[in-house]
Amino acid sequence: MLTNSKQIRFHENILETIGGTPLIKLNRIAQGYKPQIFVKVEFFNPGGSVKDRIGLVMIEEAEREGRLKPGGTIVEATSGNTGMGLAIAAALKGYKCVFTMPDKMSIEKIRLLRAFGAEVIVTPTAVPHESPESYTEVAKRIVRETPNSILANQYYNPKNPEAHYQTTGPEIWEQTGGQIDYFVCGIGTGGTISGVGKYLKEKNPGVKIVGVDPRGSLLRDYFYTKKLPTAFSPYKIEGIGQDFVPGALHFEFIDEMIEVTDKESFLMARRMTREEGMFVGGSSGTAIAGTLKLAERLSEKDVVVALLPDTGERYLSKIYNDDWMRENRFLIPEKITLRYVLQAKRGVNQLISIDPVTTVRKALDLLSEHNVSQLPVIDNGQPVGSVEESELMSSVLESPALFDAPVSSLMEAAFPVVHIEESINQAIALLSKKHPAVLVQDDGKIVGIVTRFDVIEYMSR
Ligand SMILES: Cc1ncc(COP(=O)(O)O)c(C=O)c1O
Repeated sequence: MLTNSKQIRFHENILETIGGTPLIKLNRIAQGYKPQIFVKVEFFNPGGSVKDRIGLVMIEEAEREGRLKPGGTIVEATSGNTGMGLAIAAALKGYKCVFTMPDKMSIEKIRLLRAFGAEVIVTPTAVPHESPESYTEVAKRIVRETPNSILANQYYNPKNPEAHYQTTGPEIWEQTGGQIDYFVCGIGTGGTISGVGKYLKEKNPGVKIVGVDPRGSLLRDYFYTKKLPTAFSPYKIEGIGQDFVPGALHFEFIDEMIEVTDKESFLMARRMTREEGMFVGGSSGTAIAGTLKLAERLSEKDVVVALLPDTGERYLSKIYNDDWMRENRFLIPEKITLRYVLQAKRGVNQLISIDPVTTVRKALDLLSEHNVSQLPVIDNGQPVGSVEESELMSSVLESPALFDAPVSSLMEAAFPVVHIEESINQAIALLSKKHPAVLVQDDGKIVGIVTRFDVIEYMSR
């Protein structure tokens, strides 16, 4: 911060606002836990994430070493946030940026990087780390093919952990007055946990450093067994967990690793927003879910700091989108309404009905064409009856003249009507009382039909 002759206090440029993020007490979510829990909130950085801290440092090192010259291009394999950190510094310094990103990353991150004028190349997530198609290998190839370009190389660049040794670690030490007992953090490149861990342990070797790892990543297994597992399972959380051990990760500063699932992470990120007012991303949810698992066995005198890497704005289309959360089975609605059951009826959302003057022949054709066993009879938008395939067939077998009779002469009682926002239990109660189907009403109109089969299929999913 500068002050000029007119006593105006200002920053020379945006880069000077990186770091110095606040430490905030966890309140409602920490209720019932003994230790004092604080969070280091990294979305206060200008690019909205902890990665602003490493972008500038990696660029300046390449400049010092003469690897990056004016007009040059910065290339990086990134889950998005490091790209932002690099793009901000590159904007001020006039460099071009090319980023490779795995296709599981949110669309918001791709758009953000493009907003900075960066070229973003999306690569498949489901390929091994060493495959030529992986985001790290594609980034290396671009550097080979682009004159005056550098790979920022966050996974191996010693400047990555060093940036945290120089800034994040000292900030946490000072903010806690040296009273920190536990530091909890997710691991992507390992830069944050290694740099902060090294600093805090130098200050006090008794400080415990706890890594949180998504289920499906190999880092926790490797930490405890020193063996690389051969099979991995995919996970949705972005920015943390690995299928290899990055060079920027120094396990010697880590004491313990805790596993957290996608679901625990996402639900906790949403709780952080709604209960603490901190709009954070998924890996912050992982950090807090891991912190609470740790906190269960700590006491009142323990001070815990968890690092929250980024903002929730980057995940509006995912974690903060109820449809995405439900599709991925992370969000079980409190009340399963008939709206969900109708939505789950893939490809058969259109209501097939007949009116009372439809002939029995036409009704049988429709039943067979749409492969259904019953049809509602609707007159002027109101249900007036129903027909059932086997009943219609018995009738025409007995008396073939009925083929050309209107269904009104043979129809049975109308199916019961249930509102679209009613619980599935309401439909189940009616279906178990021998009604073959219920009609679903929305805004005074019949919008769908739910049969026994639909309910059973929904419940079995
Ligand atoms: C959202 C998010 N959280 C956490 C991390 C992990 O930080 P680090 O790479 O320092 O281990 C990253 C890194 O990419 C990230 O993007």
